[in-house]
Amino acid sequence: MRDNLITVGLDIGTTKITTVIGEIGADGTVDIIGEGTVPSEGIKRGAVVNLERTTQAIRHSVAAAERVAGVRVHEVFVSVSGSHTRALTSHGLAAIRRHQEISQADVDRAIENARAVPLDPNLEVIHALAQEYVVDGQEGIKNPVGMHGVRLEVDVHIVAGAAGPLANLRRCVQEAGLSVRGFVLESYAAGLATLDMTEQDGTVVVVDMGGGTTDVAVFKRGNLAHSACIPIGGDHVTADLAQILKIPTEEAENVKRKYGAALPELADPDLTLEITTAGGQTHAISAFELSRVIKPRIAEIYNLVRDEIDAALGPVELVAGSVVLTGGGSLLRGTSELARERFRLAVRIGRPRGVGGLTDIVGGPGHATAVGLGLYGASSGSGTPMPRTSKAPVEATSPEPDVVVAPLPKAAEEPRTPPPAAEPSKPKGDGKSIWERAREFFKDWI
Ligand SMILES: Nc1ncnc2c1ncn2[C@@H]1O[C@H](COP(=O)(O)OP(=O)(O)OP(=O)(O)O)[C@@H](O)[C@H]1O
Ligand SMILES: [Mg+2]
Repeated sequence: MRDNLITVGLDIGTTKITTVIGEIGADGTVDIIGEGTVPSEGIKRGAVVNLERTTQAIRHSVAAAERVAGVRVHEVFVSVSGSHTRALTSHGLAAIRRHQEISQADVDRAIENARAVPLDPNLEVIHALAQEYVVDGQEGIKNPVGMHGVRLEVDVHIVAGAAGPLANLRRCVQEAGLSVRGFVLESYAAGLATLDMTEQDGTVVVVDMGGGTTDVAVFKRGNLAHSACIPIGGDHVTADLAQILKIPTEEAENVKRKYGAALPELADPDLTLEITTAGGQTHAISAFELSRVIKPRIAEIYNLVRDEIDAALGPVELVAGSVVLTGGGSLLRGTSELARERFRLAVRIGRPRGVGGLTDIVGGPGHATAVGLGLYGASSGSGTPMPRTSKAPVEATSPEPDVVVAPLPKAAEEPRTPPPAAEPSKPKGDGKSIWERAREFFKDWI
């Protein structure tokens, strides 16, 4: 009997490094079979600042996940924080020969033309994600192949990463004995893991509230339409508390998680905390007062998200139908209530969905990116054969995949989203490039 393939997400965050191992079933569904989380080391705002410490932390995270899964990991999909990426949407055009149907080659040409934008030489393209197509002015076409027309247009969202930070990330992963199967924008991965079917039909803003940054992704009918990064995250809230209460960061983090709230109205009105400062003095602060320190920071983050979307797409309440908050920072009490107030839209907390297996472990918003990376790997047809734990030699480094033109995989009926895997049973090395396999797989959408 053939072993299933595995897909591995490695989320290198500012506060934690998480590895998620997913087993891709014959039907394309993904079961989480391994997870390992360790505190992040050597990372600042999504960028490596200490190669050795980051490498070591990656090793520990992957080893912990391997122990749970009982498999060896060789290749991983790695998250890239928006803090060192640039994103832009570019328009591509292809003329169609008279009396001819639109072919895949025409679609490729339109995408290629959209991609042909001058980029800073220090940037590497991470994603070039085709959105909907326009044929002779007719908008909203998912797959134009076979249609008739003379003019094919497409908008492509291009995400490019700064070469230096990407090289550092790749180096740490390689030093840890692994190869990078692909880089994936953190907020894109978070959206892949959390959006439900109705959200995939409209426009939704995904706000990934991390430790060092808040990453924003706007999905329009399941496609990434805009992405941005706000350089403030949950750790800034902790730092504010540490400074105001004059206590160490670790203590401030505990206070925030236990008693903090983004809205003073939600704080326990009867609770007063006795704080002992680093200098040994004690003072009291009510939970209400605590929240009055926290609220402006979260409000600032939301205002910056609003400004970003306003500038790129227009007033958020007009362009989007809802907001999905995810990432560890969304666990702070009152984040969704405050977001509802600020965005004047429906808001919910996005938890990973559409996977089976260890859902109790990876079911929180802090795991959205890691699970999304795994789903991305499965849906782009990049699963790798599952080597059982043994002294199997590490596979030769396979080339990183080229840009994958992949819309958000359609969610299936609850409770699981079978990620539409391209022939998941087919091991890599079938002679087709990842580009070809992804295209084959997504032919119904692109
Ligand atoms: N229960 C909780 N209540 C409040 N805040 C929390 C809770 N759990 C985690 N956080 C906050 O979430 C943040 C970490 O979120 P997450 O794990 O998504 O970040 P990360 O991925 O490591 O960082 P980044 O995405 O910025 O690189 C921290 O600021 C932490 O304080
Ligand atoms: Mg993160």
